[in-house]
Amino acid sequence: MQLGIDDLAFATAGRYLDLADLAPVHGVEPAKYTVGLGQDRMSVCAPDEDVVTLAAAAALPLVEALADDERAAIRTVLLATESGIDQSKSAGVYVHALLGLSPAARVVELKQACYSGTSALQMALALVARNPEQKVLVICSDVARYDIGSAGEPTQGCGAVAMLVTANPRLVAIEPVSGLHTSDVMDFWRPNYRTTAVVDGRLSLRAYTDALTGAWEDFRAQGGAEFGDIDAFVYHQPFTKMAVKAHAHLTRLAGAPRDAAVMDAQIADTLRYNREIGNSYTASMYIGLVSLLDHATEDLGGSRIGFFSYGSGAVGELFTGVVQPGYRAHLRTAAHRRLLDERDRVSHAEYLRIVAPVNPVDGGEHDVERLTRGPFRLAAITGHQRLYEPTT
Ligand code: HMG
Repeated sequence: MQLGIDDLAFATAGRYLDLADLAPVHGVEPAKYTVGLGQDRMSVCAPDEDVVTLAAAAALPLVEALADDERAAIRTVLLATESGIDQSKSAGVYVHALLGLSPAARVVELKQACYSGTSALQMALALVARNPEQKVLVICSDVARYDIGSAGEPTQGCGAVAMLVTANPRLVAIEPVSGLHTSDVMDFWRPNYRTTAVVDGRLSLRAYTDALTGAWEDFRAQGGAEFGDIDAFVYHQPFTKMAVKAHAHLTRLAGAPRDAAVMDAQIADTLRYNREIGNSYTASMYIGLVSLLDHATEDLGGSRIGFFSYGSGAVGELFTGVVQPGYRAHLRTAAHRRLLDERDRVSHAEYLRIVAPVNPVDGGEHDVERLTRGPFRLAAITGHQRLYEPTT
């Protein structure tokens, strides 16, 4: 029996900052961002958008496509995030309510920086293996925030991915072997009292590459596929140039020929959406997968994809999946393109204005400005409670 991703969609905020508008503020050439980091734009959350509204927006089309009995088969919702909105209650419980899912379900939130979406996927596969009638909704949702004016600022972004994990999946069957790597590194973290991450940029690049090395070596030791048997590679993308560097590193490590055209073809389609969205932490690698499936001109049915998931701190996992024949009939390419094309470009001044109150920490009473284009919004914060509502 095959297990894997049966349906897949992403959501992002309704606004973006063009990095050409950030470059002069930082006193650098736009090429530093577009070429050096491989980023053109970053999605910017409005005050009424957060990990809950993004997660619910990503999952809505998957849930709407299901018949009543299929919806009832969703008995587990796993929400992966590192920009959660509560220290206790899972963001997934709000999402479960907004989607109108059955109360006969377990819902939890998972955290380990950008990696936890992959742990959610692996746990979902284990649950479905135990009961193949069951469907698990895995959602990765994050708002990436660094200090204004810091080197990390151009690598911000936000987004969510929803995956329906089932037996006999229509999109990608995940193979059983994983390569794992954990090491205690302070490359990027966010203490409870901060709304933005603390990062040692140089160390983070090394920690990512070290985790890739460790995960690949473990993957091969566990009997995982040879490099030459993997057709395309999806990496965690804090900025898309990182995936280019990671792929060069893995190609070298695996002793494969370093043919630039071949290497580019193995990753180019995975980078397209993230260039426009920016880092979405837990969602980033899976938006890379959506990008590959949506953009590949050849039919990928039967192709093996390698995934490298990385979360600072640090945990890495390398695994593979096989694209299922007929997958193209189940993609949501037009909706994804529309979502990105319909975003509004904001000026630098407007960006500063709307990001400021993303995470009110004072516990006060707030009515939240109505700005989102998405199907759900944060309407108010009152009595220490966040109140969400549909926008239509
Ligand atoms: P920086 O110091 O601003 O940039 O920080 P730089 O000086 O290293 O330049 C970046 C690149 O632009 C370089 O390319 C320059 O040469 C090039 P490279 O040599 O590395 O190939 N460049 C230019 N190219 C063309 N024209 C120009 C030009 N000028 C310079 N005019 C850094 C960059 C990534 C460190 C910073 O943005 C940062 O701290 N970002 C946040 C941390 C991060 O993203 N780390 C990635 C690995 S960790 C990770 O992936 C986990 C994470 O997602 C979090 C989680 O797990 O939760 C972050």
